[in-house]
This record gives sequence, structure tokens and C-alpha cells, in this order.
Amino acid sequence: MKQKVKACLTILMLLASIFPFVSVQAEETDPIYERIQQSGELVVGLSADYGPYEFHAEVDGKDKIVGFDVSIAEKIAKDMGVKLKIEELGFDALLGALKTGKIDMVISGMSITEERLKEVDFSDPYYIVKQKVLVRKDDAEKFKSTADFNGIPVGAQKQTTQEDLAKNEMTGSEVTSLQKVPDLINNLINQKIDAVVLEEPIAEAYVQQSDNVAIAPVEFEQGEKVTAIAISKNTPVLKQHVNESIAEINDQDLLDGYLKDANKLMFQEDQTFFQKYLPYYLSGAKYTILLAFVGVLFGMIVGSLLALMKLSKNKLLRFLAIAYIEYVRGTPLLVQIFIVYFGTGVLGLDLSKLVAGCIAVSLNSGAYVAEIVRAGINAVNKGQTEAARSLGMNQKEAMRYIVFPQAIKNILPALGNEFVTIIKESSVVSVIGVSELIFQTGVVQGASFKPFLPYVIVSLIYFVMTFCISRLLGLAERRLGVND
Ligand code: ARG
Repeated sequence: MKQKVKACLTILMLLASIFPFVSVQAEETDPIYERIQQSGELVVGLSADYGPYEFHAEVDGKDKIVGFDVSIAEKIAKDMGVKLKIEELGFDALLGALKTGKIDMVISGMSITEERLKEVDFSDPYYIVKQKVLVRKDDAEKFKSTADFNGIPVGAQKQTTQEDLAKNEMTGSEVTSLQKVPDLINNLINQKIDAVVLEEPIAEAYVQQSDNVAIAPVEFEQGEKVTAIAISKNTPVLKQHVNESIAEINDQDLLDGYLKDANKLMFQEDQTFFQKYLPYYLSGAKYTILLAFVGVLFGMIVGSLLALMKLSKNKLLRFLAIAYIEYVRGTPLLVQIFIVYFGTGVLGLDLSKLVAGCIAVSLNSGAYVAEIVRAGINAVNKGQTEAARSLGMNQKEAMRYIVFPQAIKNILPALGNEFVTIIKESSVVSVIGVSELIFQTGVVQGASFKPFLPYVIVSLIYFVMTFCISRLLGLAERRLGVND
């Protein structure tokens, strides 16, 4: 009997190894697809600096991310019977977000490359696109082939196939990689670089929009790239659904219509620059102030705790506080933001961009405030503690009722400076897509195809904000001074 069972099992195992697809077919669902169905929401990541693929435009008086990639995303969501949610990130942050589960797929004009295939999977292609070189109009005759760029400064978007082309095919060129396309155009127009490698539709949009750029007749060897949707590995069901939608788009030639819609939105010109883009700046300023406010408030709580730990007699507490403060002050805020945002994702916590940004800024500010508070406490005359103790207060009470209030008053100017600093520094959280001022500046650049003016405007806004706050703080200080 036993032997019979054994024989049966062996046969089964043999069969299974001969027909591997049996086990694949049994896989009727995958974790990502299940999550999408359960939440009823498809989260698509993109970098909206790339008209006509994806960019910001005003639709019925409201800001929206539009473009033919968005139309594709809408179709896929509809075919899957779920709602679409768009997450906007820098192009170089998209694959990280996909791998840590922040987004379900990337639809961002992303080309299939060997390197990316090591990390993620791709759908069937939906668009084949030519690679072009944008130059200043005066130089249009100067560059005819990739060999003409020896010693020439050339720009490309960070971590894109254009960056690879510039490095590999434009031999001898000096490549500058930036995160945002509008910044590249800015550099080109202002003669910091002499050429930008772009995909054809984007290059053409800039030619239409600006009088001083042109497309050079340069051909690349690897000049055609295949655009597809990036998804996580081992998600067969999701992939099948995505491919079905793409097949329909290709069979019914839907992309043409999507492109026409995008082009119409890209070049609508009925309002002045300010009418059109002021709302972006206002909403950005709101987030910047919120970040600074939360940052200083929680920074003060964290900072006071750290300061007390650092002043405590307990060696361990002291060590922890010193380690934290040194670590935070010794690493860039940019890195801390990525660690909080993606790190919490790895730990299974699903923080929103704004919450992650607030936490990172607060933790960072805490380290600086700790030093301010400690200096403030140390500056309170020792006699104060001694007098309090001799009145019968214990150490804690003396700290709480006598030393701390005086310390706070001493450090108010320094805290005010910290507030001003955070207003400026919080601009870094734009990298994870929190829509504060710098982020919105990028949006305005992308939507207006004006690379420079938005920076001038945002600098003025920052200046007005920090200047007003410094004045207010000065006033408060003088008031407190009078109280003395
Ligand atoms: N196709 C290029 C790549 O995959 C560039 C895509 C850039 N996309 C964007 N939304 N900025 O590298």
C-alpha cells in the first residue's frame, strides 16, 4: 500500500516538473493585484514634468495632472473596475517607490532597459519613441552627428535613457544630469550647456513653446526606445490585466486620440501667467508654512527631550542623545527624508508623503533645537538652581519652574531662526512629492514651459515669508524684553 502511494507521488512530481505551467496557471492572483482590488484603488506613480506624457494643466478651473500616460492609467483603472490615484514623484524616485510598495505601477514614459529589468517587470510596450537633441537655435547648424559633441556640455534628465545616450553615444561630451526637464532647458537657454537629449514629443513641445530652441539633425544608434508600464516582479495577474488594456489601446489606436487631447491641454493660452499659476504658489506656500510650523513645534518637543537627556546624569541617556544629535546633524536632510519615507514603507507602515515629510523635518529640527535648548539651560545662572533648591524644591521642580522658563526666554531668538531655517530647508521634501513651494515651482515650470521665471517668483515668495517672520520675532523679543 505504502509503495503504491509512493509511486503515485513520484509520478505526480514528474508530471509537475514536465508541465511547469500547471503551477503558474494555478496562481490566480497576486498580492499587488489583490491589494488593488481590496482597496478599490490603483496607485500610479509618475513624474509630471513631461508634457505631453504627463504634466499639470488647468481643467475646469482646477489643477489636474493630465497627458496621454494619464489617459492610459485611467483606462487600466477602468478596465480593472477600480478608481485611479496618481502619486507624483521625481522620475529618479519612481522605481524605489514601486519596489517599496508605495505605488502599484509606474506609467511615466518609462523605457524598458536591461538594468531596470533586473529590478522590476514591464508590461507590453505602448509607445515607440525617437531620441532627439535640443539645442539653441543659433547652434542648429553646428551639430550634425553624435561625434560633434566632443568637449561639449550636454544635459539629460537624471536616471533616464537619455542620460545613458549622452554618456555612451556622444563621445567626449561633458554630461550634466538634473532631476527636472525644465531645469535642463533653463541651462540650455542660459548657455550653461549646449544641448539636451530629449524624447521627440517633449523636444517638439519646447520648440513650439520657445523661440530660441531647435532640434538638431543628430541621429543616435540606439535612437529608438520602447515605452512600457513598470510593475513589480512576480505579479502575473496584474501584468495580464495591464497587457489586456494595452492590447486594446494598440488595436483600437486609442493613443492617437490621447495624444491629441494632451496637445490641446498643453498649449491652451487664455490667461496671463499670474492668473494661471498664482494658485499653485499659494497652495505651495500653505504646505511650506505647515511643514515649518509642525517642524518647529515637534522639533521643540523632541529637542527639549534630547537636551534633558544630554544633561542627565545617566550615561546611557546621554550617549543616546549625543549619538542622535551627531547623526542627524552629520547627514543631509535629503537622505533623512528618503530614509523616513521609504524606510517606513519597508517596515510596513504606510505613511503619506506629507506625514513622512513632517516627521523627517521634525526629527531633523529636533537635533538642532536640542543644542539650542541645552545652551539655553546652561546659560541660566547656577545660582538660580541653588536658590530654588534652598527654597525646598527638588532638582526636577527647580528645572521645571525656575530654569526652564528662563531658558525658553533666552533661546527665543534662536528658535525664531530655526523657524526661518526650516521654511527654507523644507524645500527638500519636494523630492518625495510633498507639494510645497519648490515642488509647485517645478509644476509651474513644467506646465508653462517657462524654465526661469518661476524661480524668480518663488524666491520672492520665500523672501517675503522669511522677512515677515523675522520682523514678527523681533517684535516679540522686544515685548519680552520690556517685561523684564
Ligand atoms: N523614457 C526615458 C526613460 O525611461 C525618460 C522618461 C522620463 N519621464 C518623465 N516623466 N520625466 O528613462
